[in-house]
Parts: sequence; structure tokens; C-alpha cells
Amino acid sequence: MFHYLLAHNCENNVNLLFIWLFNITFVFIFRFRARQVVETRTSWKAPIIWEGMFDPKLYDQKHIQKKSSVGLTVFAVGRYLDAYLKTFLTSAEQHFMLGLQVTYYVFTDQPDKVPHLELGPQRSLKVIQVEKHSRWQDISMMRMKTISDTIESEIRHHCNYVFCFDVDQEFKGRFGSEALGDSVAQIHAGFYKAPQQSLTYDRNPKSKAFMECGDYYYHAALFGGLCEHVKNLADYCFLGIMEDKLNNVEALWHDESHLNKYFWLHKPTRLLSPEYCWDRVPNKDIQVIRLIWAPKHYDTLRTK
Ligand code: UDP
Ligand code: GAL
Ligand code: MN
Repeated sequence: MFHYLLAHNCENNVNLLFIWLFNITFVFIFRFRARQVVETRTSWKAPIIWEGMFDPKLYDQKHIQKKSSVGLTVFAVGRYLDAYLKTFLTSAEQHFMLGLQVTYYVFTDQPDKVPHLELGPQRSLKVIQVEKHSRWQDISMMRMKTISDTIESEIRHHCNYVFCFDVDQEFKGRFGSEALGDSVAQIHAGFYKAPQQSLTYDRNPKSKAFMECGDYYYHAALFGGLCEHVKNLADYCFLGIMEDKLNNVEALWHDESHLNKYFWLHKPTRLLSPEYCWDRVPNKDIQVIRLIWAPKHYDTLRTK
């Protein structure tokens, strides 16, 4: 009887061991696979930042020691202010570059309506009035000129880095110092696995943004880097936009098309995976959503 019990228990243990080994192998294979199918380095050896690739504490330590300071620009013009600004800023207070010195630069045509927020330590906010262009395309494109001018007159005197964001987004997870680099581009959520021919570059040879091929398709909803690099990018895009206007053409995706051309000619030194600017569709590659697109209501929010 005793022997029978012992044998029975052993058999149970062996079964448990098998189940345990099976689970571990399963978890390893699938977690490992999930990270194998995403690209973590470009052909020019720039890192593409994904969850699991970095130690947040080490990055924070390094940047706190270096006293890195970050400017964040965001435009909230016309109806975009009421619709998005408060959520954008309050979520940035919870997730954007915590522990570092951060200055928000809010550009708006209605300074009085900028919500008042209690900001964390080492964080401040500056409101800068801008005109409201009548076409939404111009509101979007002309940001490049304002960004360049403000880097020159203001931001570079207070911040090492500057990150420029669309307002129609919400921070959901850590967006920290691992994102800082000399010249930082965001891979567009819609195209990170798409074949070259489907990338939506400007294909009109008459536009300065025209491209036959490129590396990645970048999203203009977010870009950043050292002040001088971001100023170069903004100047380049603005010149292209103005030359297009003289030639009576407009690039397919406006400032984004010019930004893609810029990053094709001047390779970014750090790329952010779509975790840093995700649309709303669940996807197994996205282990952490750091910033998410807010619902778009073009019909009611945009000027005609
Ligand atoms: N924007 C704005 N008011 C407008 C149109 C655009 O403030 O009427 C700013 C805002 O920061 C917005 C960005 O320009 O996020 C780009 O426009 P949008 O987000 O509509 O472009 P999409 O992300 O759809 O390409
Ligand atoms: C869309 C996005 C646009 C633009 C476009 C590029 O998903 O809403 O802003 O980036 O992709 O094809
Ligand atoms: Mn947007």
C-alpha cells in the first residue's frame, strides 16, 4: 500500500514537472518570438526602442546626472484646445520624462483657455500665442516655422532636448529618458511592418517632399532630439513647404511628407517603436502602450 502511494505521488510529481516545463517553454518561446519579429536596430545601426530593450533606471540615472532638460512643444489651435489639451497635459504630467526638468511650450490662439494645472517639481509651462491659419493643413504645416523660431529664441536657452507632439494623443505609460537622443524619429503605427511600396511618401515629383523610396515611414505626430537637430528638421520642412506653395503643390501628408524626406536624407540616431505612439488596435507586438492616439473627430474639430 505504501509503495503504491509512493509510486502514485511520484507519478503526480512527474506530471506536474512536465506541466511546469511545458508552461515555461511555452512562455519562453512565445515571449522570445514576440520580440524576435520586431526590428531593434536600423541598417545604419540606430536603436529602435521597444519594451524590454532598456533599463529605465540606468537611463534615468544617466540623464539626471547629466542634468538633461527637455522642452515639449504642443499646438492647440481652434477647437483642438477644448477637445484635447487638458488630457494631453495631465497625462504628460504622469508619464513624460519624470525626474527630469521639463518645460511645456503650449502654442495656441486662445491663451486664456489653457487649463491651469498643478505641475510636478522641476516642471513648468509657458503659453505662446500663435495666429490661427484658416486652413487646417496650414495650422499643421506652419508649426514647423514656429517650432524653429521658438527653439532659437527660447527653448535652446533652457533645454538640451526638445520633443514636438500633436495634441490629439494621451500618455498611457512611461515615456522616459530612453527616448532621448540626438535626432529621434517615431515609426508610424500603421506601417511598421508594411512593405516599401505601401509607405505613403509623397509620390508627386513636383513636391519637395517627393520620394521614390525610403527607410521607414515616420509619424509627424512626434519627433525630437537635441535642439539644434530639431531646428534643422523644422527649417528643412518649412523651406520645402514654402517652396511647394510657390509651385502650387501640397505634399500628400503635409508636414509629415517633408519630415519623411528629411529623415531619409538625415538619418535619425534613435527610432521609437510604435509603442511610443500607438493607434487603438490591440496588437501582440505592443507590450506597453506609452502614448495613444485620441479619437479623431475631423468633421467637428477641423476648420474647413
Ligand atoms: N492642430 C490644431 N488645430 C487644428 C488643426 C491642427 O491645433 O485645427 C494641431 C494639433 O496639435 C494637431 C496637429 O496640429 O494634433 C496635427 O493635426 P491633426 O492631429 O489633425 O493631424 P493628424 O494627426 O490627423 O495627421
Ligand atoms: C494615418 C494618420 C495620418 C497620416 C497617415 C499616413 O493613419 O491618421 O495622420 O499619418 O496615416 O498615411
Ligand atoms: Mn494628430
